[in-house]
Amino acid sequence: MTLQLTPLSGAVGAEVHGVTLDDTLSDEAVRELRAAFVAHQVLVFRDQDWTVEQQMAFGRRFGELDTHPFVDGQPGRPEVLDIVTEPDDVVNFGGGWHTDVTFLERPDLGSILYAIEVPPYGGDTLFASMRAAWDALSPTMQGMLDGLTATHSAAKQYAPGGQSTYSKAMSTKNSDAATAEVRHPVVATHPEDGARSIYVNPAFTSRINGLRRNESDALLSMLYDHCTKAHFTCRVRWQPGTVTMWDNRSVQHWALHDYAGHRRHMRRITIAS
Ligand code: SIN
Repeated sequence: MTLQLTPLSGAVGAEVHGVTLDDTLSDEAVRELRAAFVAHQVLVFRDQDWTVEQQMAFGRRFGELDTHPFVDGQPGRPEVLDIVTEPDDVVNFGGGWHTDVTFLERPDLGSILYAIEVPPYGGDTLFASMRAAWDALSPTMQGMLDGLTATHSAAKQYAPGGQSTYSKAMSTKNSDAATAEVRHPVVATHPEDGARSIYVNPAFTSRINGLRRNESDALLSMLYDHCTKAHFTCRVRWQPGTVTMWDNRSVQHWALHDYAGHRRHMRRITIAS
């Protein structure tokens, strides 16, 4: 099998044509998909027709499924998140640049999102390549960042009084554990192909270790601005049946909330590292 791919932008993402993501998919096809996933960082498949079991079975071909520590999954299937925005919701899930669960010691390898109900306009998801962002830095800045570590925590979103007041259809849990802190390198090395990428994000990174607060704030602010420049991004427009999988080790993403008055329902699973 040789995949037919159309790049979504010059930096990140590709649409995969002619593949049905069900149990007829051969091991060879999954190997090709995995290589394309690492290289393109975001893969989009149209017109899939998935039960929740099919989505989970597809995910398991890439690794074990993980369970979100702070957001409730489906009853009996904690690994499956229904990401719902109701027409009158003010805040949506994932509405800001972030890399999933970097507050964990071992953040997830990637996520697989399936569109069930989409608004008539808007609700796109933006992706930004942290590889492209790293490559575009000057060698001097790369040298300064390499070797630094940053502290990450879920406190801003999920600790008591945090920002996680999502849709009425979603609920959170374990908020008392959300203040835990972990450290990650500021520059990540991809475990599968060795590519470097910037690994800080505004949702979960609280500071760069070893710097004074004002130095850390200034450096993080410069990096956030740099990382999400338009030419490092692509944009996924959803239709019911669209599947998008992203490499959480290489991209940040942002679920836009520009469809007030309409409902959006997506189903997400994540693959553990
Ligand atoms: C997320 O996983 O952050 C949500 C993505 C989306 O709903 O488009």
